Amino acid sequence: MRIDKYLANMNVGSRKDVHKLIKQGIVTINGEIVKTPKQKVADTDEVMVGEDVVTYQKYHYFLLNKPKGVLSATEDRSQRTVISLLRPEDRYQNLAPVGRLDKDTTGLLLLTNNGQLNHELLAPNKHVDKVYQAKIAGVADEETIRIFAQGMTLGDGTQLKPAKLKVLSQDKVNDSSEIEIKIQEGKYHQIKRMFGACGMKVVELHRISMGNLILGNLPLGEYRELSGEEIKTIK
Ligand code: URA
Repeated sequence: MRIDKYLANMNVGSRKDVHKLIKQGIVTINGEIVKTPKQKVADTDEVMVGEDVVTYQKYHYFLLNKPKGVLSATEDRSQRTVISLLRPEDRYQNLAPVGRLDKDTTGLLLLTNNGQLNHELLAPNKHVDKVYQAKIAGVADEETIRIFAQGMTLGDGTQLKPAKLKVLSQDKVNDSSEIEIKIQEGKYHQIKRMFGACGMKVVELHRISMGNLILGNLPLGEYRELSGEEIKTIK
């Protein structure tokens, strides 16, 4: 790979910025000053810009606690996307969310520039469990648990796989409940439509886990890189 591409991919700067750094003579490969942006670099080479070693990492994986009001998309003409929550140096090319959370849904969202893995995790036969907690307008009960466990058919004929519903609390006076639900699919507005089909409304929806990835106590709007172990478990 060319050294200018290597440095630009590692977000050292734009191609133009990188060319300037090379001109300044502060980019080295194995201690030798780089003379031209066309110079080739191998995985085993040590690249430095000034005093900093720039190690090549092809893929990046970030776990974000998505707040309300941002879109699970890479770009949008008028609305903020989850990419805007990343520090500029973390906005790698082709970084995209793995699946979507609605604009008003909060919680765990994985972002990666590993397009192949992104695609695989969303494949219908992959069966990645996703767990959500929600506040519901309506009283979810044993009957709701039974309906969800059977695998329901939505009004438009969409057939859903069985979902595991836990009722965490019920408030019959205020006609509300708190629930936890585990689903394997990620169909459009799936959980909202499931409760809608039972005459209830999702008031708050928050994803707490996806496969082995757990949100934990990461504050809303913040993100972290996945650990090596976590990356292994999602592959
Ligand atoms: N189900 C929904 O209805 N919305 C989400 O954001 C995720 C699952």
